Amino acid sequence: MRRPWHLLLGVAFGLASAFSCFLAGIYFQHSHATRQLQQLIQQDVYAYYISPKIFAVFSFFSVANETSNNMQRIMKYGFPGLDDVRLYSDFVLSYDRRNRVAHWVCEHLQLANLQGARGVGRAGATYRPDLSVPSNFRSTLADYKHSGFDRGHLAAAGNHREQQVHCNETFLLTNIAPQVGQGFNSGAWNKLEIYVRELTQNFGSVYVCTGPLFKPRAQGNRKWSVEYQMIGSSMVAVPTHFFKVIMVESRLPLGKPYMEAYVLPNAPIPDQSTLRDFLCDIREIEHFAGLHFFQGIRRSAIFGSNYPSESQVFRDFA
Ligand SMILES: *[C@@H]1O[C@H](CO)[C@@H](O)[C@H](O)[C@H]1NC(C)=O
Ligand SMILES: *[C@@H]1O[C@H](CO)[C@@H](O)[C@H](O)[C@H]1NC(C)=O
Repeated sequence: MRRPWHLLLGVAFGLASAFSCFLAGIYFQHSHATRQLQQLIQQDVYAYYISPKIFAVFSFFSVANETSNNMQRIMKYGFPGLDDVRLYSDFVLSYDRRNRVAHWVCEHLQLANLQGARGVGRAGATYRPDLSVPSNFRSTLADYKHSGFDRGHLAAAGNHREQQVHCNETFLLTNIAPQVGQGFNSGAWNKLEIYVRELTQNFGSVYVCTGPLFKPRAQGNRKWSVEYQMIGSSMVAVPTHFFKVIMVESRLPLGKPYMEAYVLPNAPIPDQSTLRDFLCDIREIEHFAGLHFFQGIRRSAIFGSNYPSESQVFRDFA
């Protein structure tokens, strides 16, 4: 039987040249494509989910851009929600246009974020409206003035001391919410922020997600109502509560992360109460906020903590 060797050769040659064209195509197209991909990720957070795989392919030729790396680092365990997601230089935020406060703010804290450089700090920063929010949905300095409420940070200024621009961005009003000053912002909430920094000092890598809650009150007969104030002519909503969901990464390779959450009422909290009094089931926060935290990890892999007993953590830090 005669072999159609010329046919085989033709096919092989065709495949080889197609493959080399493909490689050349990747080589010449990659910078253009990565740029497009980065734009896509900024515009469409769904693209984030597939981006690591694609970047892994492109990284053969080029190093991925710092901005996209930041988003991937901070949001490594997933987005709690996808409403109006905004990437800042050291935190990621989802903005609630109706309430003029964030839905959530996510941070990834490492020692470098806290230690900071010389002269970097809140002294060099001022509160200012975020002009990237359309003006009819934006909160302003005038809204907070004489309102009786503090301009409370969601991502704490003290967590972002590596560069002045990081610290400055925590003063944008998108990262600010009306908080009771005495006994809350300068009391228990401040203690919680310090606790998060202590966790970072001790464990090196902490993910924290912070946001407001508008909790309903029972009216009887299985009915509920939500009551909250609004301030200023933009009507910035005053949250009834604030939450922090904290995930501590293990220092051990393949070690399980440890996760805990707090809900504090936006009200004066007596000095003698401890953080432990405000521990809260993460599912309860999810229920009231309509968010889902760290969905990149199975819950069963989180609640089994690294520590011999939960109380050990509280003994050390609370
Ligand atoms: C990284 O990508 C973003 C979005 O495409 C762009 O705005 C930024 O300038 C890029 N940064 C660098 C250092 O290339
Ligand atoms: C930080 O904000 C201050 C005051 O608004 C400003 O003078 C300074 O230039 C800003 N620094 C950076 C690095 O953005």
